[in-house]
Amino acid sequence: MIKIAHPLDSKSCYLQRVKVDSDAKFLFDLLKERDARANISHKKMPSYNSHVQFIKSEPYKRWYIIYVRHWIDKPHRYDKEKVGSIYLSKNDEIGIFISKKFHGKNIGKYALNELMKKWPRKRFLANVNPKNKKSIQFFKNNNFKLIQYTFERTEQK
Ligand SMILES: CC(C)(COP(=O)(O)OP(=O)(O)OC[C@H]1O[C@@H](n2cnc3c(N)ncnc32)[C@H](O)[C@@H]1OP(=O)(O)O)[C@@H](O)C(=O)NCCC(=O)NCCS
Repeated sequence: MIKIAHPLDSKSCYLQRVKVDSDAKFLFDLLKERDARANISHKKMPSYNSHVQFIKSEPYKRWYIIYVRHWIDKPHRYDKEKVGSIYLSKNDEIGIFISKKFHGKNIGKYALNELMKKWPRKRFLANVNPKNKKSIQFFKNNNFKLIQYTFERTEQK
């Protein structure tokens, strides 16, 4: 696994816009990793084709891949790896997903702050599944406050 710098900085962790051709497979694998706790809108896996169509539809204001970089021989040689994705929706909602093996290394915190710096807003929102204790704690730690409970009623059979 790539070595993660501590503390992270703009050279060791950065965001790059999602490109369909080079990122669809990574985003599909990330989606597979997400268990039911992390999911609200996405309940079962889409086909690869509809996943690609979804990316092409430009569903968000901005959607980025989170990269980490490890210097082997600064400034000439380095390794880099995709570790997650983060988006800002058209309604200023943030969604963030880090691959499990990279959890707890401050990448989420760093990427969240980078996104908010790139897109300054009076307020940001985040929709979190109430069963997902880790991400509730994550947003609380990053100064988000709970403002509503949203109920859903689906088709009754
Ligand atoms: C929520 C999520 C984005 C957090 O990302 P992360 O990179 O693990 O977060 P960070 O490392 O910045 O912070 C995690 C906190 O847990 C602590 N932690 C320590 N060890 C940890 C571990 N092994 N695993 C997870 N968290 C750990 C960190 O110290 C940190 O606490 P702090 O904020 O008080 O310092 C990530 O868990 C995730 O992608 N979850 C699945 C998707 C999801 O639920 N997304 C939210 C809905 S939009």
